Amino acid sequence: MKYKAVRGMDDILPEDAQIWQWLEKTARTELEFYGYKEIRTPILEETGIFVRGIGETTDIVTKEMYTFNDKRERSLALRPEGTAPIVRAYIEHALYNVSPECRLYYIGPMFRSERPQKGRSRQFHQIGVEVLGTNSPYADAEIIRQVNSLLKLFGLQNFTIKVNSLGCKTDKAAFAESFKKYLSDKKARICDTCRDRMKKNVLRVLDCKNESCAEIARQAPDIADNLCGTCKDHIAKVKNALKGVKLEEAKNLVRGLDYYTGTVFEITHPSLGAQDAIGAGGRYDNLVKDLGGPDTGAVGYALGMERIIIALKKEIPGSDCAKVVYIATLGDAAKIRGIQIAEKLRKSESFADIIVLTDVKEASLKSQMRTADKNNARAVIILGENELREGRLTIRNMVKKTEESVEENKLFEILKNALEG
Ligand code: HAM
Repeated sequence: MKYKAVRGMDDILPEDAQIWQWLEKTARTELEFYGYKEIRTPILEETGIFVRGIGETTDIVTKEMYTFNDKRERSLALRPEGTAPIVRAYIEHALYNVSPECRLYYIGPMFRSERPQKGRSRQFHQIGVEVLGTNSPYADAEIIRQVNSLLKLFGLQNFTIKVNSLGCKTDKAAFAESFKKYLSDKKARICDTCRDRMKKNVLRVLDCKNESCAEIARQAPDIADNLCGTCKDHIAKVKNALKGVKLEEAKNLVRGLDYYTGTVFEITHPSLGAQDAIGAGGRYDNLVKDLGGPDTGAVGYALGMERIIIALKKEIPGSDCAKVVYIATLGDAAKIRGIQIAEKLRKSESFADIIVLTDVKEASLKSQMRTADKNNARAVIILGENELREGRLTIRNMVKKTEESVEENKLFEILKNALEG
């Protein structure tokens, strides 16, 4: 019997781990500059947190959660997202007493039993951010600026940030009613799922990918026209504070989680096809109260790490490869010199992000070049007896396929150019 990983739950193999570590490291450093502190909550929570938090009629709760009863017949769930557990922890540990506004981030796996496809898995990873304890539009603007800056730091350019406002609880309920009325004479043209959504969660019809439903959604009344004065003012302030950040106003953008009110946003990237959201977020001003805490405004977002990696590989080919330098040596004296050069390179601050490999099999030059190639080496330093005698080295640029002979004391300078070029 051969075992396989559970469908939709992927191993991250050593060759891929590097990009994951780099993303995590970059995110941590950047988020800590903004004053966010890490929070780690358990992967299992009581199911009720998600039913109450995300919403009883949402796809996540009705179809996608991994739940089971423990020995005491308590229903537990593998967390499908991070916001509801963080709100649970915020209330449980009265974090509102620690600081008036609580800036938190988390990185970790989430679980949804969806049909696996490109960019959609059953175990996936999120980098998430939550700011609890403020109703201010400037908090929304700050996190949108911050996510924009983080994505650029990752090296992404071609993403789009779509923004909308759902309005407060009252606005949302009023819009749901008028949207239901608008749909009432179009039932025959919408899909079965949307007919069902009309009864349970009508705003989700705005998100349907079915062409006929999408066309009806495009002609629908605007949420923006139905906002109360306070909500209109809030979203106007958010947009004003975001001048200079490229935004797209997405007139009827709604999200698959019921806790959102007010500002919502979604970040898409063209490399992902149908699953094009690399991240999403918004305000959830009622969630803390709904889960038993004080009346507290909050806003946050989460990025899907698998999707970010797909986008990065598309936008920046080779971004999944570490910068590897291979030192190919021939003869004992050259091998010893090669080990010394490797040690110097590994310790050098100007080469902090490279991996240096040396030959440990006493293989032929041809076979060493093959190993360098398999390891995606950007450069190979070749050192044989002739080079050693002359105090020179050969640097082969594996990307440009060029080779040059250099004096040993110029190695670092020329290698740096080769790796950056
Ligand atoms: P979400 O829109 O459900 O929001 O997920 C956020 C991101 O997680 C998505 O944009 C996507 O990149 C990624 N994602 C979701 N499902 C999958 C999947 N099955 N496979 C791969 N990636 C996936 C939330 O989870 C909210 N908690 C975000 C938030 C934080 N809102 C406020 N604070």
